[in-house]
Amino acid sequence: MTDFTPTLTPFADHDAELAKAEAGVAKLAATRNDRWYPKFHIASDGGWINDPNGLCYYKGRWHVFYQLFPYGTAWGLCHWGHVSSADLVTWRREPITMAPSLEQERDGVFSGSAAIGDDGELRFYYTGHRWANGRDNTGGEWQVQMMAVPDDDELRHVTKLGMIIDCPRDKVHWHFRDPKVWKTGDVWYMVHGVSSADRRGQMWLYTSEDMVEWTFKTVLFEHPDPDVFMLECPDFFPLADRDGNEKWVLCFSAMGSRPKGFMNRNANNAGYMIGTWEPGGAFEPQTEFRLWDCGHNYYAPQSFDAPDGRRIMVGWMSPFDHAMAMAGDGWCGQLTQLREVFLGEDGDVHTVPVPEADALRADDVEFGAVDLAEGGRMTLDADLEAGEIELSIDLANTTAERCGLRVHETQDGGYVYVAYDAQTGCVVLDRQNGSGTDGGYRAAPLSDDELAADALKLRVFVDRGSVEVYVNDGHQVLSSYNFPTQGPRAVSLTCESGGLRVKGLTLHHLNGIALE
Ligand code: FRU
Repeated sequence: MTDFTPTLTPFADHDAELAKAEAGVAKLAATRNDRWYPKFHIASDGGWINDPNGLCYYKGRWHVFYQLFPYGTAWGLCHWGHVSSADLVTWRREPITMAPSLEQERDGVFSGSAAIGDDGELRFYYTGHRWANGRDNTGGEWQVQMMAVPDDDELRHVTKLGMIIDCPRDKVHWHFRDPKVWKTGDVWYMVHGVSSADRRGQMWLYTSEDMVEWTFKTVLFEHPDPDVFMLECPDFFPLADRDGNEKWVLCFSAMGSRPKGFMNRNANNAGYMIGTWEPGGAFEPQTEFRLWDCGHNYYAPQSFDAPDGRRIMVGWMSPFDHAMAMAGDGWCGQLTQLREVFLGEDGDVHTVPVPEADALRADDVEFGAVDLAEGGRMTLDADLEAGEIELSIDLANTTAERCGLRVHETQDGGYVYVAYDAQTGCVVLDRQNGSGTDGGYRAAPLSDDELAADALKLRVFVDRGSVEVYVNDGHQVLSSYNFPTQGPRAVSLTCESGGLRVKGLTLHHLNGIALE
């Protein structure tokens, strides 16, 4: 044991701040417009949300916390909101967990994670954020790592312990945040993101014996691209490949990366590299950087290990840089579905919705095999508010240049096109005819093996204001918002310039997750 104690300097009564924040959310929720409010994605009752935080399974419940601004629908003074679930099917709203109340977090309780110690008790790690000039971002940021512990088994109330890692401000250009903690062997590790003094995006690694006092060890990773100046929300975890070999997946949300081809089309981009790592050694990448999700709206994912050994991940349907249409409705921002992360037969990372969520399916409609002639259109549902379409395209017998699904199809001609594009060998999510967004399309390139396969398998999830597409058992994913205009939202199957043969087609209506 050491005599290290965190620095605790309250400036406000935490419970009073939490009560104010609850009132802020309730005020916005009271007049919320639900036209785009998700049925089966996590969102706040009211207010703005961004990153998922503190993900865990603890004493019988699954917990998702998230960055929350309770007083409006744009990013602002960050709190932690909270929902929990007994079964990963339906969710329960929990009290707001953290509001700024300590000096070091005056301007925001920023992102962080949860870790369960060998004593079975949980700890929260997060970033305390202050504007360096005490006012705004013109003078830079002053960020440090903080710790809190729960007061009850359901994580409904916490006690803050204070600052555990101060920022060496001579070595850092402002950004110093988003701690992620895990154990390998007998050692506790933490990584967080840093912008170095010369503005390179880095991940710093620390160790600890008691989970409270942390020692800086090394820069685990520096992004090779000099344009990348910060790695937000880093994560680092092992996965077994199909032969049982351990690989390490290094994850980060890169600020500053530039678009190139199908890559990095969003303002900031979240992805991973697969490699190897031994405690005490360096991370040895074996792949290039790959995106977790090729859609328009995906950022800041976090993962955790479930007690049954699964790795589960949730992302935020971003962005910061475009106004989101639902901001006028009393709420703003939603999380993706919870996704299981695993290494596929192809050696690459796959992400698929947790199978528990299949329990939301209701009123399945089985279409079986379908042939559609060139230019054909077949309506699958005249008004689908929340549903999943499973589609298997017979690649060898499809001649269409593009084929797939129109979703959120409204009577004024609006729709989002989720298509297999034979010319580019991609699955595309095209919002040219969508509404309420900056439009544009995103593409998930298929591998040569995928293009040579018998079938292309798609799972397309449609919620009131979003579309999520899982390609070939989650080898690629595209998640994007679209805010359909008033009236029914149809789904149809279509093809252009050639015919479409579908091997199997099922539509599931989906029940809500009980957060409305
Ligand atoms: C990523 C992020 C984090 C930060 C949080 C603040 O989206 O910028 O780096 O902790 O959001 O809300």
